[in-house]
Amino acid sequence: MPVISDPVQFNENELYVDLRAALGLPLYLKCEGFNFAGSIKLKAATEMVDAAERDGLLRPGSVLVESSSGNLGVALSVLAASRGYRFLCVTDARCNQPTIRLMEALGSQVHVIQEPDVRGGFLGARMAYVAALCASDDRYVWLNQYTNQGNWKAHYRTTAPAIARRFPDLDVLFVGAGTTGTLMGCARWFWQWRRRVRIVAVDSVGSVSFGQAPGRRLIPGLGTSVPPALLDESYVDELIRVDETDAVLACRRLAARGFLFGGSTGTVVSGAGQWLADHGRAGLVSVAIAPDLGERYLDTVYREGWPADVTESEPAMARSA
Ligand SMILES: Cc1ncc(COP(=O)(O)O)c(C=O)c1O
Repeated sequence: MPVISDPVQFNENELYVDLRAALGLPLYLKCEGFNFAGSIKLKAATEMVDAAERDGLLRPGSVLVESSSGNLGVALSVLAASRGYRFLCVTDARCNQPTIRLMEALGSQVHVIQEPDVRGGFLGARMAYVAALCASDDRYVWLNQYTNQGNWKAHYRTTAPAIARRFPDLDVLFVGAGTTGTLMGCARWFWQWRRRVRIVAVDSVGSVSFGQAPGRRLIPGLGTSVPPALLDESYVDELIRVDETDAVLACRRLAARGFLFGGSTGTVVSGAGQWLADHGRAGLVSVAIAPDLGERYLDTVYREGWPADVTESEPAMARSA
């Protein structure tokens, strides 16, 4: 077992669940939630912070600021605490409470935007707040996960090659799309090194990422209300869109077999299940990425009656990455 002195030194990158036993699906689920930030976002956060330090952008006295609906905020909180920076996370009324408490426990400050802007929804309002803050004081450093090249490079360097090493005969890779950092990093790597692998993006119904109309979404991390700047659709072979009720069902079926994953894992598994039902064949090797685990979703995805009991007047959890 590894012995570490810095939280980013541990990040399980080799764990897969074979879903044949649990769900009867010929699909390997890559688990990205086993690290001190609890999600795949630790990879993007580390890449972006390392680059900012190398470029001299982050210096002693700098204050990191970022717009996040949760997992990146937690990952930056871990990094800021371990490296001695202050961190301000700008989120909105739909960020779940356990995530806000987690960031605060790690020493971060959290600013919650209460009102969406007319055009860009909550994400637009969050970005405008961060931009104004940075213009007011040059100690603020905004890494901007929506445009930062380190976001996808992290997965080009780590996630994709790890999958290719473990599954040299991989046929299909299913990746959920939020900022599209994970999707673009993996898609670019496989395009360059294993072009036969089909890249299937999974998005939520109600997300505008691939040009569809906006709609109500409640599961954070996956889907956007503003088109993702990092997305280059020419690397994506196919898109599957999943209704959130199907995502919740998939999560609960996994939980019934002892695997408590986050909401977006349900989305990706449900999308992969649809795809495999249509295109599956004997011997096909397929992998899906599970961005986090389920404990942050106990009051939502795993609560009896949710989401049917969330009314339009209640704040939804999140509509953006
Ligand atoms: C909870 C969660 N975090 C992170 C991600 C990764 O998203 P991206 O790299 O597209 O921002 C996803 C996407 O599935 C997610 O659902």
